[in-house]
Amino acid sequence: MSNVLITGGAGFVGSNLADRLVAQGDKVTIVDDLSMGLVENIPDSDLVTFYEESITNKEFMEHLLVKNKFDYIYLFAGVASVADSVARPYETHQVNQEANVFLLEIIRKRKLPVKKILFASSAAVYGDDPQLPKTELSRIKPLTPYAIDKFASERYMIDYGNLYDLPTVAVRFFNIFGPKQNPSSPYSGVISIITDCIREGKTFNLYGDGEQVRDFTYIDDIIDALLLLTRSDNASNTHGTYNVATGMKTSLKDMISIYEDIAGKKLDIKYLESRKGDIKYSYADTSKLCKLGYKPKYSVEMGLRKYWKYVNEKGGNDYENFNN
Ligand code: UD1
Repeated sequence: MSNVLITGGAGFVGSNLADRLVAQGDKVTIVDDLSMGLVENIPDSDLVTFYEESITNKEFMEHLLVKNKFDYIYLFAGVASVADSVARPYETHQVNQEANVFLLEIIRKRKLPVKKILFASSAAVYGDDPQLPKTELSRIKPLTPYAIDKFASERYMIDYGNLYDLPTVAVRFFNIFGPKQNPSSPYSGVISIITDCIREGKTFNLYGDGEQVRDFTYIDDIIDALLLLTRSDNASNTHGTYNVATGMKTSLKDMISIYEDIAGKKLDIKYLESRKGDIKYSYADTSKLCKLGYKPKYSVEMGLRKYWKYVNEKGGNDYENFNN
């Protein structure tokens, strides 16, 4: 049994990871201020301890880390909305960068015996550079406070590893979908929004012509990758940055048509102007991760099928009463 900390563990990726870790018998501590996540996302288990707290609370975080001596630390807490980072750059910086550097500093100064620290970064660090697919060595061009903070935190992780020998690894997520994703903002993952629209018969606002391409990755494949990078026999060599995606590309239009077939319903679509700053093509080269033995199991269709089944069995998305 390992002792694990997940910041942002009530959110989409963090809570799915918590489910998997609890199922394998780990002791999981979650810190989440519920700004995006939900208490209901957290697995109901004696193995879980939940603190409703912001990672920017330094005193709290220092005490927690020193007291618990975690084996594994997964850093998912962050303000995920790019638009929010543009509206409130300084505040979001405190969460998306500052708080993460502070955690590293505590681990370094207090010489805490962590086995692996994983930081969740984003494909946003690549910005609108046209080179495709995105490899970890592609040009970095962060265009928003969100992307700048993600990239800076990534570098802090890696360089704390180089300078102070901390066992760190950073992942760049592309477009993830699946259960427990919050669809309540226009900047939520497009598949969570479409799911809501299909179920509720609402009109979907499609920005652009639908030919934009993404690397849509089902959450279970993401969790497999996270465990591979932190807990497998290969994990001791994983210091560095990894794209985490499928390496497959699907246009928004094609994804919608696959989803309509699965749901047996037509999506009501209203075409609008492209969003300012929208990236037309984004997909990953995942060969660095694949060299460690990673093999995604889900095509877009398989993932959509599983997600649709989950949402219908639940009778709706997880966030119906979420108002923020
Ligand atoms: C994703 C990330 C974002 C990151 C970016 C980096 C998510 C939720 N967002 O943004 O944090 O900065 O990659 O490349 O994973 N769309 C619609 N209608 C909607 C919502 C979206 O047409 O209601 C379109 C968008 O304009 C976009 C596509 O669908 O072209 C995908 O949108 P979205 O899921 O928000 O992800 P990204 O824009 O790729």
